Amino acid sequence: MSNYLDYAATAPLREDVLASYLEALRVVGNPSSIHTDGRGTRMLLEDARDRIAAAVNCDRNEVIFTSGGTESDNLAIKGLYWQRNQDAHRPVVVSAYTEHHGVIDPIEWLEKNEGAEIVWLPVSETGVVDLDALAAVLRARGSEVALVSLMWTNNETGVITDIKKVCEIASAFGVPVHSDAVAALGHVPVDFAGSGLTAMSITGHKVGSPIGSGALILSRASKVESLIHGGGQERGLRSGTMNYAGASAFAIAAEKAVAELDDFAAHTSSLVSKLKHAVAAIEGSRFSVGSAVAMPHTAHFTFDGLRSDTLLYLLDEQGFAVSAGSACQAGVARPSHVLIAMGRSEAEASACLRVTIGLGTTSEQIDALIAALGPAIERARAASAV
Ligand SMILES: Cc1ncc(COP(=O)(O)O)c(C=O)c1O
Repeated sequence: MSNYLDYAATAPLREDVLASYLEALRVVGNPSSIHTDGRGTRMLLEDARDRIAAAVNCDRNEVIFTSGGTESDNLAIKGLYWQRNQDAHRPVVVSAYTEHHGVIDPIEWLEKNEGAEIVWLPVSETGVVDLDALAAVLRARGSEVALVSLMWTNNETGVITDIKKVCEIASAFGVPVHSDAVAALGHVPVDFAGSGLTAMSITGHKVGSPIGSGALILSRASKVESLIHGGGQERGLRSGTMNYAGASAFAIAAEKAVAELDDFAAHTSSLVSKLKHAVAAIEGSRFSVGSAVAMPHTAHFTFDGLRSDTLLYLLDEQGFAVSAGSACQAGVARPSHVLIAMGRSEAEASACLRVTIGLGTTSEQIDALIAALGPAIERARAASAV
């Protein structure tokens, strides 16, 4: 049986969520129809909105259902950019190159197609974004900044950003902040109202619901331009027949993940610390984020003298599903852009291992990984030496 240790890529579907999802799929009705059946599925959708709002502490009207994190990131970034450039010239977008491609790529698209100017903030060697540099950029160019986008937690390294501080800095200049909280939801406390954010992206498949449902949380006071035009659903910001079954499953999963946060932190941090301790004894290994504050379930390492794809292949052969945490496009492993942004060499950024776990991970699975890791690293090093 496979040892699934790649929860950050996608978390296992929760059994109880699957049961309610199947039940919801059997209910017929377009949530926009006025007949009884339509009102039935509308109720499922609105109940999901309430539950998501409670899980992230926002107003129910601030929840815009989408297909997932990537769509939410695009809606927030392009939508805010266009909105903010309607009444003034604000071409600057501030972010960091440690972001997920769901954020980096729409920003680069705006640069290429809409004349945006990007400021990538410096990042420390442990993956922490330099907030003094953020303040300096805003002092110098605040009136020209369309938005700041910084993720709540990094999906590769686990590092946590002080989003409240980011919002405090930006609000002094009247600049809206978007945060990709896809990796954070259900893994660390996420409080939209308490953060000061304008917009926040979340997705369901990282907390145990089926892939294909997410949300953009958008503050009531804020407007964004829509990317998708049609029937005007979801405050006119996301046209298309609403996926009530997906939204419902997402909401139940998010609610459960948030309720489990304390248990999750206690269980995963003790397993991660066991793994870190064992890996520290391997020569040429490095824990990627040093003493930076990070999510409890993420362990990210680099190993001298090997390539991640070889190591992943060897571990997969022995039944371990782990990842490099780096972008993998068309089956080609690339150096991690996150580690490169943290100042690491291409060789180091191509020699990563990310282990991400959950409440379902057992101590025996971590012991088995530890036992397999030493020989797999040796073989991967031997392979890269030829
Ligand atoms: C930080 C982060 N943002 C965005 C996404 C994209 O989310 P989705 O797969 O729901 O489009 C992911 C998924 O890996 C992620 O980890």
